[in-house]
Amino acid sequence: MCGIMGYIGEREAAPIVLEGLARLEYRGYDSAGLAILQPTSEFATRKSVGNLASLRAELNGDLPGGYLGIGHTRWATHGPPSVSNAHPHLDCDGRVAVVQNGIIDNYASLKADLVSRGHRFQSQTDTEVLPHLIEEEISTGLELEDAVREALLRVSGALALLVASDLHSDVLVAARTGNAGGLVIGLGEGEMFVASDMPALVSLAPEVAFMNSGEVAVIRSDAVRLTDMKGESIAMKPFAVGQNPMAVTKGDHKHFMVKEIMEQPKTLLDAIRGRVDLDGSALRLEELDGLAERMRSARRVILTACGTSYHAALVGRRYLEQVARIPVEVEISSELRYRDIVIGPEDLVISVTQSGETVDTLGAMEHLARATDLQVVVTNVPGSQATRIAPATIEMRSGPEIGVASTKSFTSSIVCLYLLALRLGELRGSLSPESLAERLRDLAEMPRLVGSVLANTGQVERLADEFSIAKNFLFLGRGSTYPIALEGALKLKEISYIHAEGYPGGEMKHGPIALIDSEMPTLAIAPEGDHYTKMANNIEEIKARNGVVVGLLTEGDQALVERVDHTLFIPRVSAPLLPVVASVPVQLFSYYMGLKRGADVDQPRNLAKSVTVE
Ligand code: M6R
Repeated sequence: MCGIMGYIGEREAAPIVLEGLARLEYRGYDSAGLAILQPTSEFATRKSVGNLASLRAELNGDLPGGYLGIGHTRWATHGPPSVSNAHPHLDCDGRVAVVQNGIIDNYASLKADLVSRGHRFQSQTDTEVLPHLIEEEISTGLELEDAVREALLRVSGALALLVASDLHSDVLVAARTGNAGGLVIGLGEGEMFVASDMPALVSLAPEVAFMNSGEVAVIRSDAVRLTDMKGESIAMKPFAVGQNPMAVTKGDHKHFMVKEIMEQPKTLLDAIRGRVDLDGSALRLEELDGLAERMRSARRVILTACGTSYHAALVGRRYLEQVARIPVEVEISSELRYRDIVIGPEDLVISVTQSGETVDTLGAMEHLARATDLQVVVTNVPGSQATRIAPATIEMRSGPEIGVASTKSFTSSIVCLYLLALRLGELRGSLSPESLAERLRDLAEMPRLVGSVLANTGQVERLADEFSIAKNFLFLGRGSTYPIALEGALKLKEISYIHAEGYPGGEMKHGPIALIDSEMPTLAIAPEGDHYTKMANNIEEIKARNGVVVGLLTEGDQALVERVDHTLFIPRVSAPLLPVVASVPVQLFSYYMGLKRGADVDQPRNLAKSVTVE
């Protein structure tokens, strides 16, 4: 969840470390710090509480000089946000500096041992045991890389770390154990970079190499040696960095969140580009070719994900059932990973994870991999950890999503799941060529329909004016819009800190209707389609109890306009596209609500973009 950035080369390290951290801030932002190895061979360490702007203010333009540096943005696990708990952490003599992402499970006993041997600690973090352990190993005459390996043998837990020492001033050592978030090495000319995630390296390094769990990288300005925990060399697989640097800036927008919402006509087009012949003549999902035969005869599908991706998976279930006529279960990854689920090699596992790093999703994938290698992951990050567990990957192609609240990746993952369902239906013979062609032609309309909703942000902004003082909110949907109601409630909680719940409309009478009064507004997703009449009845029931209703309705709906208190409109869409198009006003609503309430919409409190701890 934390962000790690490191540099070694011929340029001043501090500005580069700060630039990388700025692009990783979505990962954690309760405190930040850096350590630069100065020409005097001493570390200059600077830290502050709060986000990177606070660290920059603290530095006030006075950046420590030096050509090797490491930095960190923190999401607190052990010890509250404070200057002393901010990384980097140093050993007793300030000669070993460490930044870490993850949790050291046995830190308490290690710390007690180290203290009994005279080590002095400055923080309440688990991380601080690492520089002291490495210090002890170096004092036995080991090189830094070996000292790191030895120290890691003494810790348990999942971690990603970056280490520097003035005793070995020509090298950075990076290591990963378990699934505690990624580490990517940026390969430059006479300079190298290390970061938790790709966005930090865009425009800095032409090529990158991802580190796997159990690897230690020995990084010099002119060469990188990747090794295992025993020090044996491992072949590195560099990738070209293809991202557009503009993708990691806000452009003309005030926040990443609204920029990413607005990008959806393009990201949705990218999700289908080259995969769908828009005249309906063909669907190409070559990513699945290697699994096609086994998918054809799969017994059932298990979908797994967390948070927003779980809501996308709920939509995916409906597509798979309707189109591929296969039994489908959807499971929250943090639960599934510890379940004694009955599963075999004929079961198809589909995981959804924007980041490809969510530790619970990775845990569930690994848990299920013991029983089946028939796995597909839908992810936005090529090369991420999840893509190394599943034999097949469907890329969302949304571009970097920096806002902590998932928006564009949500709609892209829904579309990827739809394409997957269509392919499975094709393979299993449950989808006729005519129906497939019609559905593909329909998909071609999607970017335009989403664009038309985005052209009318005024309707949503006015609504947020009306409701920004609300204390609670209920979101109702039915069928394919029930997951959108769940997502609407999650977004509102995350961005505006308003208590919100998502319910299927039919469940109201089983309890939640007791909450209805004039203080409990309901956003009812009630477009034309299968569940329109049922939702209309639910709206009547709420109105009969003095409830205030915002109706998310189809343009031109005369009947329900009369019944609700406020409206949001979407254009008329086909049933499969409805969850995508209905998501957009719901996302905008949470954005404007957060804005009106003065919340930090890109960096909501207590959250981090990639959840790499349990
Ligand atoms: O990267 P993932 O898709 O695996 O992330 C899963 C959740 O952590 C994520 O969707 C989270 O719920 C977002 N903050 C929602 O906006």
